[in-house]
Amino acid sequence: MRCIFGTARPVRLAVFAIVLCSAAIGLSARTTTSLEPSGWNSDLALAEARDKNPDPKIVEVDLAARVADVAVAPGKIVHAWTYDGSLPGPLIRARVGDRIVVHFKNELPESTTIHWHGMRIPIEMDGVPDISQPPVQPGETFTYDFVARDAGLFWYHPHVMSAAQVGFGLYGPLLIEDEDDGVGITDQLTLVLSDIGFDEHGTLDSADAGGPAGMVFGREGAYILANGKVMPTLRVRSGAPQRWRIVNAAKSRYFLLELGNQPFYVIGGDGGLQESPQTVHTLLITPGERADVIVRPTRGNTDTIPLRARLYDRGYGSIQYRTAESVLTVAFTDEPTLPPSPLPDVHRHFDQPTLEGATKVDILLTLPPAGPDGKSEFQVNGVPFWRAKPYRATVGERQIWIVKNDSKYAHPFHLHGFFMLPLDERLQPIRPMAWKDTINVPVDGTIRFLVDFNERPGMWMFHCHILDHADGGLMGHVHLEAASPTDLEHHKRPSGSW
Ligand code: C2O
Ligand code: CU
Repeated sequence: MRCIFGTARPVRLAVFAIVLCSAAIGLSARTTTSLEPSGWNSDLALAEARDKNPDPKIVEVDLAARVADVAVAPGKIVHAWTYDGSLPGPLIRARVGDRIVVHFKNELPESTTIHWHGMRIPIEMDGVPDISQPPVQPGETFTYDFVARDAGLFWYHPHVMSAAQVGFGLYGPLLIEDEDDGVGITDQLTLVLSDIGFDEHGTLDSADAGGPAGMVFGREGAYILANGKVMPTLRVRSGAPQRWRIVNAAKSRYFLLELGNQPFYVIGGDGGLQESPQTVHTLLITPGERADVIVRPTRGNTDTIPLRARLYDRGYGSIQYRTAESVLTVAFTDEPTLPPSPLPDVHRHFDQPTLEGATKVDILLTLPPAGPDGKSEFQVNGVPFWRAKPYRATVGERQIWIVKNDSKYAHPFHLHGFFMLPLDERLQPIRPMAWKDTINVPVDGTIRFLVDFNERPGMWMFHCHILDHADGGLMGHVHLEAASPTDLEHHKRPSGSW
């Protein structure tokens, strides 16, 4: 277990530190056995990818994309696009430092790729068609092979016709665990939130439903899914702490979560643990983002508490004539409420970043009025991606991006391959510091972040993770060039050595 005091502290703090750290160890010791009734999370069970490699440092799995009938609720079957026949795709679980090998087979009627969202991996493994690799044609295979450098919940999805393919059901969780993260909560849940649209025959909504207006809004499916199920139930013992790692895999829908009046104790997000925990009562997770939270649902005068998605104004159509929606039900068992125990005080050290010398990059997001043909396009600095030139960076360069939204719709802004450090309007780190790969740019809002392009030359994408918006123009590239031949040598090392 990692002690928050680290080792480089003055000796006179040592006794104090030992007392506090053993208190923390005591806490985690108390929770090494489950506090929950058996089968507490069976409604939300995820399929798991089978590791066929006996080497404990290698997770090697087979994964096939194919069309399959999936039941999202009793009697509600959808002809979805899936990984290995399950919705979401199987949980791939590894430990930080492990090598991950995925033998992928495309059994879909269309070409596809897999992008490993949030992972700091070589460009060849990034799944961007024609940049990282040729698209994987129907019947073809591709082997993804990389090292998991960071602990956290990541996820995988296609990068070919992404709005269509993700909306049809192609996404899955990739959990990179760190046993020494000091969190010490035994009862854990990986929660993949999404939505899907289909008719009474189980036929998927067309990917271009609603035409240009559908693109401008960002299409949402009528059924909200939690681990592929409509309104599943989690059976919990009142007062028992649980760790939820949540990803929003919907192609457009925002989740502004609320669990009755129970707080979420946020310990991390996209790129693992954050600098220090925060308590919130609503938790916004935009498409692509993750949250790592501890909840301790405690019985009041009801036997159940709904986890609800409140309305969030991400542009016209997101709050008009709509109400909050339920995601899942937390149901209390009959056991007596556990007395409250302290939640783990999990900290992570972030160096104070050096901002001097960082190159500023200004980005303006706009949505000009539709043309005479009724077509709309989102623009980044005046052009949609199909008319854009790549932005440039050199290995070793730090950049501060200032992304201003003048488009009347909110955009979860995602950068491939590198973590972003959010900054405030004075360009100082927002505390607690946290590594992000997707940051929401609200309507009329501006975000600022620092990115350290310190390795791995390549053509790295950025785009809105409302995938209809990405297809509608809101996408671009950063051409990260090697500063010296050694950058390239480093780059050419086999992926397993990163
Ligand atoms: Cu999860 Cu390019 O995206
Ligand atoms: Cu967008």
